[in-house]
Amino acid sequence: MSTASAIISGTGMSVPDRVVTNQDLEKIVNTSDKWITSRTGIRERRIAGKDEKLSTFCIKAAQAAMDAAGVTPPEIAMIIVATVTPDHPIPATACIVQNALGCKNAAAFDMQAGCSGFIYAQSVAKQFVVSGRCKHVLVIGAEILSKFLNWEDRATCVIFADGAGAVVMSEGDFPRGVLSSAMYTDGDMADFITLPAGGSAIPPSAESLEQGQHFIQMRGNETFKMAVRSLAGVCREVLESAGLTPGDVNWFIPHQANQRIIGAVGERLGITGERCYVNIDRFGNTSAASIPIALDEIVRAGKVKEGDILLMAAFGAGLTWAGSVVRW
Ligand code: UT7
Repeated sequence: MSTASAIISGTGMSVPDRVVTNQDLEKIVNTSDKWITSRTGIRERRIAGKDEKLSTFCIKAAQAAMDAAGVTPPEIAMIIVATVTPDHPIPATACIVQNALGCKNAAAFDMQAGCSGFIYAQSVAKQFVVSGRCKHVLVIGAEILSKFLNWEDRATCVIFADGAGAVVMSEGDFPRGVLSSAMYTDGDMADFITLPAGGSAIPPSAESLEQGQHFIQMRGNETFKMAVRSLAGVCREVLESAGLTPGDVNWFIPHQANQRIIGAVGERLGITGERCYVNIDRFGNTSAASIPIALDEIVRAGKVKEGDILLMAAFGAGLTWAGSVVRW
C-alpha cells in the first residue's frame, strides 16, 4: 500500500491594515451594528486601500507560508490561486504571484469555485503531490471583494471583506496529510450569488455600469438554507471516508460566511464550543480566503498539535460546496 501523502507544511495569511467596523458602516448605509452582529456575527472586517490589489495580499500570505514550511521559491512546483476577484481577467493572478516570489519552476493558474475555492484547490494540489508530480504546491485562497461591492446595498456590503491565506502542501507520509476530500456543484442555483457583468455574457459597457451589474449580488436567504444542509452533509461524508467521526475532530474550520450557519452546522455535527473555530467577528466573509486565514491563526497560536484531526468545509457561489479532513 502506498504511504504517499500530501501534508500542509506551512501556513500564512495577509489582510489589509484598514479595519472597518459595523459603526463605520452605519454611517454609509441603512444598517445597524445590532442587525449585523445578530444576523451574521460580524463586528468588523478588513478592507483594502485604493492602491492595493489581490496579489498584494497573495504575495505576503504565500511568502509567510513558504517561510513556515522552510521551502524556497524554486522548490515550488505549482501555484494555485483560488479567487473570484483576481487582479485582472487576464493574466491569472497566480502568474503575477509566481513572478513576484521568484517561483521560476512553478506552473501557475487561478481557480474559480466561489467560497469553496480553497478546498477545491487543496484537493487538486493533493492529487499532484500524492502522484509524485509535485513535491511542493502553493495553495492560496484570496479575495478583494470590497472592490466589487455596491456600498449602497446593505444585503452584501456589510458581509464581504478582503484578505488572503496560503498553505504549502508537500510530500509527506501517511497517516499525516489530507485523508479525504469531496467537492460538489449544483449549477441549478448559479443565480444565487453572481457578479453578472464583465465576462463574455455581459461585456463591460456604459449600460452595464449604469445598471450596477459589476457588483456582487446575493440571494442570501436561499443561500443560507442550502449552506447548512450541504455543509453538514459533506462534513459527514469526508469524516466517514477517513474512517472518523465528529468526536475525533480536534478543529472544525468552516468557511466564515455567517455565525448562524457555522452554529447550525456545528450543532448538527455535534462539534461546538472551542473545537469550532470562528473569526468572522474580526474578518467578515472573505470567501475563498476564510479557511486558510483561520487555519493560519490557529497554527500560529500553537493550538494545532501533530496528529490533530482538522475538518474543513466551505460553501459558495456556483453553487459549490466541499470538505476535507487533514491529519496534522
Ligand atoms: O459565502 C458565500 C455564501 N454566502 C452565504 O452563505 C450567505 C448566506 N446568507 C446569509 O448569511 C444571510 O442570509 C444574510 C446575512 C445575507 C441575510 O440575513 P437574513 O437573516 O437571511 O436576512 P434577510 O435577507 O431574510 O432579510 C431580513 C430583513 C429584510 O428586511 P424586511 O424585508 O424583513 O423588512 C432585509 O431588508 O433584514 C433586512 N436587511 C438588513 N437590515 C439591516 C438585510 N440586510 C440588512 C442590513 N441591515 N445589512
